[in-house]
Amino acid sequence: MNFEVSTEPAHGSQDWFRVGRLSDISVQGARVALLPQGRVAIFRTQSGEIFAIEDECPHRQGPLSEGLVHEYSVTCPLHGWRFDLRTGEAAFPDKACVKSYEVRIDGDFIFVALGPNRFK
Ligand code: FES
Repeated sequence: MNFEVSTEPAHGSQDWFRVGRLSDISVQGARVALLPQGRVAIFRTQSGEIFAIEDECPHRQGPLSEGLVHEYSVTCPLHGWRFDLRTGEAAFPDKACVKSYEVRIDGDFIFVALGPNRFK
């Protein structure tokens, strides 16, 4: 399921986009936002934290938003590579990284920053 994405910058910055409502994502669930930089997967962990990473697995372009979420990682649904939701880095022994984006919550709304990647 895709979010409706506001085209208006938010939080006084050109980089922040409103990507949907917190209440639209179930615990350990995900949604996809179609943003100017491409598909961004928005995840909600068991503890209720929200993370945003690139939706395309660098192995063979699997949709990470359809992967299983456990603690701070998601497992790609195609071949099982596992990525850290906080950094976008693949777990050993795989060597890969997806872009990760900064997230803010304001009330029930989720905002994602499309600035430079935080970790690469
Ligand atoms: S496409 Fe993700 S592990 Fe192969």
